[in-house]
This record gives sequence, structure tokens and C-alpha cells, in this order.
Amino acid sequence: MIGLGTMGRNLLLNMSDHSYAVAGFDLDADKVNSLKKEGEGRKILGAATLQEFVDALKTPRTILLLVPAGDPVDKVILGLKPLLSAEDLIMDCGNSHYTDTDRRVTALAKDNIHFMGVGVSGGEMGARFGPSIMPGGSQDAYERIGAMLEAVSAKVNDEPCVAYLGPGASGHYVKMVHNGIEYAIMQLIAEAYHILKEIGGMSNEELHETFAKWNEGKIRSFLIEITAEIFARRDDLTKGMLIDMILDSAQQKGTGKWTSQDAMDLVVPIPAIDTALSARYLSADKQQRTEGEKMLKGPQAQMQMDMQELVSALEDAIYFSMIISYAQGMTLLTQASGHYGYELKLEEIAKIWRGGCIIRSGLLEHIRAAYAQDKDLVSILLDEKLAHDVYTHQQGIRRVLSVAVEAGVPMPAMMSCLAYYDSYRRAWMPSNLIQAQRDFFGAHTYHRTDREGVFHTQWEQKQ
Ligand code: 6PG
Repeated sequence: MIGLGTMGRNLLLNMSDHSYAVAGFDLDADKVNSLKKEGEGRKILGAATLQEFVDALKTPRTILLLVPAGDPVDKVILGLKPLLSAEDLIMDCGNSHYTDTDRRVTALAKDNIHFMGVGVSGGEMGARFGPSIMPGGSQDAYERIGAMLEAVSAKVNDEPCVAYLGPGASGHYVKMVHNGIEYAIMQLIAEAYHILKEIGGMSNEELHETFAKWNEGKIRSFLIEITAEIFARRDDLTKGMLIDMILDSAQQKGTGKWTSQDAMDLVVPIPAIDTALSARYLSADKQQRTEGEKMLKGPQAQMQMDMQELVSALEDAIYFSMIISYAQGMTLLTQASGHYGYELKLEEIAKIWRGGCIIRSGLLEHIRAAYAQDKDLVSILLDEKLAHDVYTHQQGIRRVLSVAVEAGVPMPAMMSCLAYYDSYRRAWMPSNLIQAQRDFFGAHTYHRTDREGVFHTQWEQKQ
């Protein structure tokens, strides 16, 4: 393992727990020394130099990287390349952009060095005790390390949360979309928090209880579970609760933005993810919002639902929006698979996301089942069970959003999920008008509903 930050170190210790002899290297000697200490009595080598690290490995070598995405990955590869031999394998386990991975696969293949992009999800604890792993690249290379990845991955019903996903950068692409869905679900949860706090007037303790209860039902998931824990956490520095001391400016490292950017290029609508990203951007500009608060008035927030009804409608609303968010991400994967030649198996992806990763949830089992029934499903919204589920939960989201709109509480991701549903379930959209407008002002032409061909109308009557 090159890169002994928390993720790299934890993944290495996880491998060691499964009886693999491992070696670690980091430019920071302190990290190497602490690995050495931790590795006492185990088959863990902390290498002082890159040369010592490479020499310690059995050939053909398997080298994992967990360094920050971007230049650091290229720098490590540059340093490693002269020390490697044909058939060696480098696995980049960070959140690299998939186009960087493609470039690296091609460049290293010239020297017969395999390069795999491997998405790893689950944060620090996942890496240590069982992440979800999304490997892509050469299948031959995967055969060499598949058993080790299976050993260290999370398990659901004894099934490992790892599978060979496809060629090239497919692993990093799938991880990118995983993170896009992660952005959407996190935003949905934040919106639920907002309405419960502002309209419901819930205390942190009540929020803790509500989320803990929700985690036993249909929206059971890792993100709901940690949200419950967050509301129960006291602050070490003051007497209050930690959540109230955290600045409301969300940051990001880029994977959500890349998902939206790529979806735009592939002409795949993923508004839940786009909206979650925009909400982070808006949150980050606290100064502007503070000015806005002084100038822009909203309605008086009034509770128009009793608390129990709000909590129950909100649970339905989150369930509904979670389905829509997964639907958009999975559809993007389907389209990207065709476009980039990844040959992704959506059932496998849903399966390995059921455990270990940040977006793991009870819902993923239904999504897996949907793809098991029809591997060519264009959208999970067209699966009978999930179509029925969104239909039966729509009333909740409509109720919640009408209260939020009246009270002036922003719920952009939920609104976008409902709007997506209301568009997706109609054969007709008002876009005939857009075509008419385009033709009116720019002679862009239009198609007709009653006959073939391309038409243009002289809209403005000449005097
Ligand atoms: C995971 C996470 C992980 C990381 C994100 C955070 O799957 O384990 O997604 O990859 O926490 O990169 O992303 P942002 O900093 O962009 O929120």
C-alpha cells in the first residue's frame, strides 16, 4: 500500500487481519513508523524507501494506492514505474476521475503494467472492517487479486460486497456515481432535518429518536443510522450539542460534481444529484445568504400538520425520494455503460452496494431484485414493485412539500424528485411549446405529431 493515511492504513490492516503479508510506504516517515509499531508481531512491513517497498513484494507485484486524487497519483506512478516489471499491477483505490484512470491504464499498458481503478467506499471504519469495493480494469489482473478483495470486503448474507465490474475505468466510474447518489441522499436527509427542526420544532433529542426509529423501517440505511447518532452527540468544547456548533457550509471534493458533469455530457437527467450539488454550493456562500436574510422575507412558518403526521409523511417522502435518487444514478450507469463499453451488470452493482458503502440501505435489495428480474431495465421506476412503491408513497411527499412551500422551507432535492416523477410518468410534456418558441425566434425547425419530416413555420406575418 502506498499512502498510509487513515484509509490506506486501515485497508492494509484489514488485509493483514485476513492473513495477507503486506507492506506499506508513505512519504511521511511518521506514518511508516506508526505502521511498523502497529505491525509488530504481524506480517506487516513498513518500508523506509520506495525501493525497499518494491523489493519486498512478491512478483508479479500488486501495489495499491490510496493517495489524494489528481497529481499525487501521477507522481506516485512516475516514481514507481522505473522500479516495476512487466505484469505488475497497480490498483488505484482513491476517488480518481475516471478519465485520469483511462489515461493511466493506456499509458502503463505500453510497459505491460496493469492499472486498475478501484472504488472503495465505507469511510475509515469500512476500510478497516469491510468496505464495498468496485474494481474495474483488466479481468486477468482481477483474477489475481479477486480472492483478497473478497476476503477484506463487507459481506451481506455471506456474499462479498465486491465484484469485477468491467474494463477500463468502470470501477472509478461506478464509484463516482455512488458518490453522486450519496450527495442526493445526504441532501434529502438534511431537508428532512430542516423541516422537522423549523416547522416541527423538534429538539435534537427528538430528532435522534425520530431518525433512530426510521432506521428500523423502510428507509433503513447507513446514512439514516449515522444521522440518528449525530443528533445524540454532545460537544466536547461547550455544554451544548455538537450539531448546533457545526458551521452550515457544506464542502465537497468533486465526485458529485463529476457525476453531474458527465451526466450532462451523456444527456442523462439526474436532477436529484444536480440539485444536491447546487444546495452544497449555496450553503457554502454563507455571506451571501446572510445578506439575503436581511433583505428577503418569506411567509410566517406555520405548522399545518400534527407532528405524528409530519413524521410519517416525511418517512414516505424520504423513501420516495431515495428511490428516485437511486433510479437516476442507476440509469446514468446504464447509459454510461453503453457509451463507454463498460458492460456493467446493474444487479451486481446493487448487490455490492448493499453492504460496506455509504449508500447502503434496505432499498438496495429491492433494486437488486429488479435488475435480477430484468437485466436490461432502463429505469428501476419501470420495475413493478418499485413503481408501486413510488405510487403508494407519493401522497407523503406531496403533503410534506405543500407544507414546506407554504412555510417557505426550502426542500430542493425532494422537490426535484417529485418533479422528476411527475414528468417521468407522462407521455406528454409541454416541450412542444419550447420547439415552437425555438422555431419562432431562430427557425430551428420542429417535428410534427401527425407526419414525418422537419418543419418550419413563418411565425411572424409579414406586413
Ligand atoms: C465513500 C465516500 C468517500 C468520501 C467522499 C466524500 O464512499 O466512502 O464517498 O469517498 O467520504 O469522497 O465526498 P465529498 O468530500 O465530496 O463530500
